[in-house]
Amino acid sequence: MGDFSTLIKNWYRQNARELPWRSTSDPYAIWLSEIILQQTRVDQGMDYYLKFLDHYPDIQSLANATEDQVLNDWQGLGYYSRARNLHASAKYVVNELNGKFPTEYGSVLSLKGVGAYTAAAICSFAYDHPHAVVDGNVYRVLARLDNCEMPIDSGKGQKYFQRLAEELLDENDPAVHNQAIMELGALICTPKNPDCENCPVNEICISRINGTQLDLPVKEKKTKVRNRYFHYLIWRSNEQVAIRKRTGKDIWQGLYEFHLIEVENEKDQPNFPLQGDQKVMLDGEYQHILSHQRIHAKFWVIDTLDLPKVNDLMHIKIEQLDDYPMPQLLIRYLTSSKVFMVD
Ligand code: ADE
Repeated sequence: MGDFSTLIKNWYRQNARELPWRSTSDPYAIWLSEIILQQTRVDQGMDYYLKFLDHYPDIQSLANATEDQVLNDWQGLGYYSRARNLHASAKYVVNELNGKFPTEYGSVLSLKGVGAYTAAAICSFAYDHPHAVVDGNVYRVLARLDNCEMPIDSGKGQKYFQRLAEELLDENDPAVHNQAIMELGALICTPKNPDCENCPVNEICISRINGTQLDLPVKEKKTKVRNRYFHYLIWRSNEQVAIRKRTGKDIWQGLYEFHLIEVENEKDQPNFPLQGDQKVMLDGEYQHILSHQRIHAKFWVIDTLDLPKVNDLMHIKIEQLDDYPMPQLLIRYLTSSKVFMVD
């Protein structure tokens, strides 16, 4: 019986998916793929990766883009801080590092949006430096292999699994080793139905021997989901509509939206700032699930000849809505609203 690394690498060579970022050693392309894949599945992220490389083939072109362009290209992927950090880091590399992507683990780690996992992924895939990756897939593989109940969301657990990953790492072939352990987690050692029959390490997997695979990995905290109640107010004339750019430091920072009133409870009525005989019309209700929030949104349209000239509301042509990056929730509304007919 071979050792862990040999077993998973042999399996990987025969079973790996062909993914475009696996056939490059360009650190820029690898960085881009890893940022996209941080919170996105491979099948969803693929088109975005190809689109970004098409629109921004190198770090200079990304740095030269406007934030609106980058956010617009990111639209639909969610977790927009990833796009803002990507753009800010591209500018940093171009302006401060002469356009040369950093090669040392510590410098890669200091880029905005890059944590320990992503730095290890970039350094191993692009430069074959011996850093072990530990992402959600790897936690699951390691916890099961070792039958370890240490919570993966505790400081102690994270240190333990990071060390175990480093011990198992093949320092002579870190790129393939890291890809292999992640691929094993993605294709075989899946959360609900692990395919232990076909697993290359089933003979040395202690949870498999004990039948405890489905109890692992252990998490300390359950994610709490917060309900939020949004009312979007849309002032609209024949040709124009009122939107504003979100400036608050949250996940939708930099994106555009309609006037938003948030209420505390489901039954609370928003205070509509209506003038004269203006009427509001309910034009749709949507739920939008984020990792820690469930947003209940209602969209209200106010038809008026005079769009309000209040604080930071901008009046734009309805046909130009496409040029403004918006949260997916608003895109869903706009593409199904009978009032707007935007594609
Ligand atoms: N998820 C994160 N990084 C990945 C990679 N390089 N290949 C496949 N899935 C991934």
